Amino acid sequence: MVDSAPVTDHPTVPLRPMTVPAHEAEGRCRSFHQVMDRRRTVRDYSTEPVPDGVIEWAVRTAATAPSGAHVQPWRFVVVTDPERKRRLREAAEAEEREFYGHRASEEWLAALAPIGTDWRKPFLEDAPAVIVVFEVHKGPNSPRPYYTKESVGIAVGLLLASLHQAGLATLTHTPSPMRFLNEVCERPPEERAAYVIPVGYPAPGARVPDLARKALEEVMVRL
Ligand SMILES: Cc1cc2nc3c(=O)[nH]c(=O)nc-3n(C[C@H](O)[C@H](O)[C@H](O)COP(=O)(O)O)c2cc1C
Repeated sequence: MVDSAPVTDHPTVPLRPMTVPAHEAEGRCRSFHQVMDRRRTVRDYSTEPVPDGVIEWAVRTAATAPSGAHVQPWRFVVVTDPERKRRLREAAEAEEREFYGHRASEEWLAALAPIGTDWRKPFLEDAPAVIVVFEVHKGPNSPRPYYTKESVGIAVGLLLASLHQAGLATLTHTPSPMRFLNEVCERPPEERAAYVIPVGYPAPGARVPDLARKALEEVMVRL
């Protein structure tokens, strides 16, 4: 048994563990699941503003995500200016018209059919805020990242969860290709857009596709 802290060649700090009594653990997970199970991708937004501070806290939470070699290869551009949202929508719809009209394979279009999406993206203007998430690659002011996609994907998951538990709706939108976003968001070439996320309250009476989630038995294997 070691009675003193091990000697390391890198600085350490004491862990601040979450102290949850074991008998409360399952209940906490169940409650969190009940909250997260109500998250839906929303495509119809009201123009009601997002309360102050919400986006900042959600981005702080996203930025707690683990990342390969702790490079934290993410940038969150929050667009609220109506004129910039208009430009964003215009450019996204131009790409999406191409995608739905020419670039998407029949197989891809068939997979999208039950969701009912098309080239029109009114949510990019209706939603009071649009968060464009960029992967930050190696550049003059940024180190080489590792597992960039995985790291940014986890951060986006935390962002969606934080906004959802605050009562805000989101849409994980991935226009293809996304290079136009560098110009609209004034970001350098080493930053590559990965997600466009409208944030706001759902429009009154908003409806969502009738989708089912896989049951635990279908997604989990115990060995
Ligand atoms: C990586 C990723 C990309 C997505 N891209 C789009 C998109 O471009 N447009 C869209 O309307 N929905 C998009 N979605 C949302 C999915 O269609 C949605 O999550 C799925 O239909 C399940 O619905 P739910 O989020 O309401 O559970 C995307 C989701 C993910 C995770």
